[in-house]
Amino acid sequence: MTTVTDKNQHTQEPDYDIDTLTNEKLLSDHEYDGIRELDNDMPPWLKWLFALSIVFAVVYMVRFWAFRANDLYQHKEFEKEMAAVKIKSKSAETFEIILLQDAVSLTSGKETWLKICAVCHLADGGGLVGPNMTDDYWIHGNTIDDVFNVITNGVIEQGMLAYKDQLSEKQRLDVASYILAELHGSSPANPKEPQGELIE
Ligand code: HEC
Repeated sequence: MTTVTDKNQHTQEPDYDIDTLTNEKLLSDHEYDGIRELDNDMPPWLKWLFALSIVFAVVYMVRFWAFRANDLYQHKEFEKEMAAVKIKSKSAETFEIILLQDAVSLTSGKETWLKICAVCHLADGGGLVGPNMTDDYWIHGNTIDDVFNVITNGVIEQGMLAYKDQLSEKQRLDVASYILAELHGSSPANPKEPQGELIE
């Protein structure tokens, strides 16, 4: 133990001891098995961390209570996500594969047909590379589901392309409806010989 002399040259008992090895202050009331701790200042980075955590807490509190920020409330976030899922599944539900008969859908179907399909099936559906759409013979079935599926997934190995990426669901349903509602049963100029099975 050493004694420390203060500035006024008065000798006095300090309220701490000095470590003889490092010359640092020792905590006087801490001793375990003869080991005593140094009384160092907190490192600056820790002080900053402490100060910043207080700033963070204040900002958080203001946003939470005063502004009721949406991203801080778990139940609000949950409701938002659930609403998004609901809208998503609702639009999936409302898309039904049924034969459309309205003029808007059939006109849109005809446009797609002339633009993309006519190259292989001919504008009047009589058939060329692809089969005739006007007769009662079908390779893959004659329901709206069958036709929609062929258009969606194609029959790649037979030369019928898949249109799921190129055409939207609605566009595929429109053109499938156009085939069944308008082309089928019509009289093309040069009908291709029947392919597939006779389905009345
Ligand atoms: C590159 C030529 C080609 C194009 C373009 C094409 N098809 Fe085809 N399509 C074919 C061929 C070939 C087949 C016969 C597939 C088979 O033999 O299984 C076929 C078959 C089909 C069938 C099934 C017919 C049946 O008898 O079951 C439908 C429906 C069909 N195409 C619709 C379309 C539609 C709609 C488009 C335009 C979006 C289109 N195709 C574009 C070549 C084409």
